[in-house]
Amino acid sequence: MNETLLNCFKSVQGSSAETALDRPTDGMGPGTGCIDGNLIRIHDADGWSDDSSQNLIDEGWIQKNWQNEYERSLHGVRKDFCDCLAAFDGPILEIAAGPGGGNFPAVLQRNPQSSIIVNDISAKVLELWQEFLDQTQEYRNVILAAFDARLYAIKYSCIEAISSVAGLSETHGPNEVLQQCHRMLRPGGHLYCFEHIISSKDWHRLPENVRLKWEAQTPQMLSGYAKTIESNGFQIARHETKDGRILKHDEGSLASDAWRFGVELSTKREWIEAIRME
Ligand SMILES: C[S@@+](CC[C@H](N)C(=O)[O-])C[C@H]1O[C@@H](n2cnc3c(N)ncnc32)[C@H](O)[C@@H]1O
Repeated sequence: MNETLLNCFKSVQGSSAETALDRPTDGMGPGTGCIDGNLIRIHDADGWSDDSSQNLIDEGWIQKNWQNEYERSLHGVRKDFCDCLAAFDGPILEIAAGPGGGNFPAVLQRNPQSSIIVNDISAKVLELWQEFLDQTQEYRNVILAAFDARLYAIKYSCIEAISSVAGLSETHGPNEVLQQCHRMLRPGGHLYCFEHIISSKDWHRLPENVRLKWEAQTPQMLSGYAKTIESNGFQIARHETKDGRILKHDEGSLASDAWRFGVELSTKREWIEAIRME
C-alpha cells in the first residue's frame, strides 16, 4: 500500500500511520480503520444491498463506467476539471465515488501515476473497484477508503484537491462534508464539484413529506451549492450552470424516491471550482 496516502489517515491499525495521530478527534468517534489489501475500512454503512451489488457485477457496471466516465470527461467543463485533477501531484480525494467512480476513472486514465484516495461509505462498492484495479499493476498510487465523508477520517491539511460528482447531494449533509473538505485540504487546495439542481416545478409535484425530508437534509438541491461552499471558507474560482436532463431512477436516493411517486425530476447541472482560503 502506498505509504504517503496511508499517512493521510487519522489512525489506521497495522500501519505506520497508527502512531501518526495529529489532531484530537473533533468529537467524531473513534474512526480507526483497518487495512485490507488496498482498501481501508473506517466506516461501512452500506447503502448497497447484496442484490444491487450483484446487479453491478452481473451487468459489468464497473468496467462499463471505467470506460463511459472517461468518454464523458472528454468534453466541456468536466474535461477542464479532469485535466486539472490529473495534473496535481496529489493526494487527490474522490468523495462518494459510488459505482460511477466520479472523476477518478477519468483522472487515472489521463495520468496512471495519479495519487488518489477513492472514498465511499460502502466498502462493498469499493471492493468492486479494488477487484477491477487489481487486474492491472498499472495504478500503484490508489487507495480505496470506506468512510463517512461527513466525519473526520483524514488528517488536517494533507489533501491537494478534492473531486465530487453528485457527492455533496448524496452524502445527506453537504455542509458537514464541506467542513471536512476545508479541514483536509491544504490552504490553496482545490475543490471540484458537479451537482444537480432540481427544477422547482418538478419539485412541487412531489408529496409534501418527501419534499420536507429532502429540504431539511439538502436544501442546496434547489438553490445550488455555491453559497454553502463559500460559507465553509472557500473562494469560488469558476461557477457554471447548464441545462441538465431528467434524472434516471437509479441516480441516487432522491431520484428513486421521486420515481416511486411517478415524478420525473428535470435538473440543471452546476459546476463549481473553489479554492480553500487560509
Ligand atoms: C449516486 S452515488 C454518487 C455518484 C457517483 N459519484 C458517480 O460518479 O456516479 C452515491 C454514493 O454515495 C455514497 N455515499 C452516501 N453517503 C455517503 C457518505 N456520507 N460518505 C461517503 N459516501 C457516501 C453511497 O454509498 C453511493 O455509493
